[in-house]
Amino acid sequence: MKKDFLTLLDVDAGELEALLAEAERLKALRREGRSHALLQGKSLGMIFEKASTRTRVSFEAGMHDLGGHALFLNPSDLQIGRGELARDTARVLSRYVSAVMIRAYKHTTIEEFARYASVPVINGLSDIAHPCQVLADLMTLKEHFSSLKDLRLAWIGDGNNVCNTLLMASAHTGLDLRVACPPGYQPPQRIVEEALSHGAHLTFCKTAEEAADGAHALYTDVWVSMGNEAEREARLRAFQGYTITTEIVNRAEPDAIVMHCLPAHRGEEITDEVIEGPQSVVWDQAENRLHAQKALLVRLLH
Ligand code: CP
Ligand code: NVA
Repeated sequence: MKKDFLTLLDVDAGELEALLAEAERLKALRREGRSHALLQGKSLGMIFEKASTRTRVSFEAGMHDLGGHALFLNPSDLQIGRGELARDTARVLSRYVSAVMIRAYKHTTIEEFARYASVPVINGLSDIAHPCQVLADLMTLKEHFSSLKDLRLAWIGDGNNVCNTLLMASAHTGLDLRVACPPGYQPPQRIVEEALSHGAHLTFCKTAEEAADGAHALYTDVWVSMGNEAEREARLRAFQGYTITTEIVNRAEPDAIVMHCLPAHRGEEITDEVIEGPQSVVWDQAENRLHAQKALLVRLLH
């Protein structure tokens, strides 16, 4: 049976722990300059319906480190752009490559692709989930704190794809998630219930201040995700008071870390002072995309 990675619930808590340990091992091997060509002869097709810097480059560089090969596929250059069905493309690409990573507007596109593909399919971001990002985030949290259990992580901002995935992460790790989103921008109830049914520890807070009080980590993301551009003005109004400022950081624990999946909009969800400040770990998060995804590729393809 091929394995897919469409949401964090495609792995269980034990598998997640093993993935993070493997990511740590691969990071050390790379730092030491030691070969880890575990995927020789394997190839990864990468379909991007939306822009990407980190996901595209980290998957491509990661496949290279592992001795394999990655192909960047722009849908407007594929026959998908002229109406060929995702399910037909899935069956054809499965005859050529060892796995497919897709970044799509709709999560259902990735689900349909996975249903028809006979090779593993990885979600490289959808409207619902961004599991590769959260693998890197958990790795980063583990590098700073010995255990994730009961660690207080405050999500401040939009209840979006990254937030949804952190809810799932709480279920697997025991992270104590404090969520502060403006009215109307909470994570979808269906996702909240799914996370709770898997054992997530969630507290919904009315303000950014309440979420930040005593937190070990503060996390935010853009207020206008890809696909939400038409709502920009309304969103900028709704999210006033949800910026991670120095005052918000000072309410957290003194050794708290500040996280952002990037790209960032300084002056909106986070100030320049905070993202450039000593508590920011955003570049470590970005680096850990590489190591965490390599561990995932090895798990799916080795
Ligand atoms: N964080 C993240 O997924 O970045 P990209 O959009 O650049 O891939
Ligand atoms: N929530 C953002 C994440 C970008 C990596 C988006 O979907 O655009």
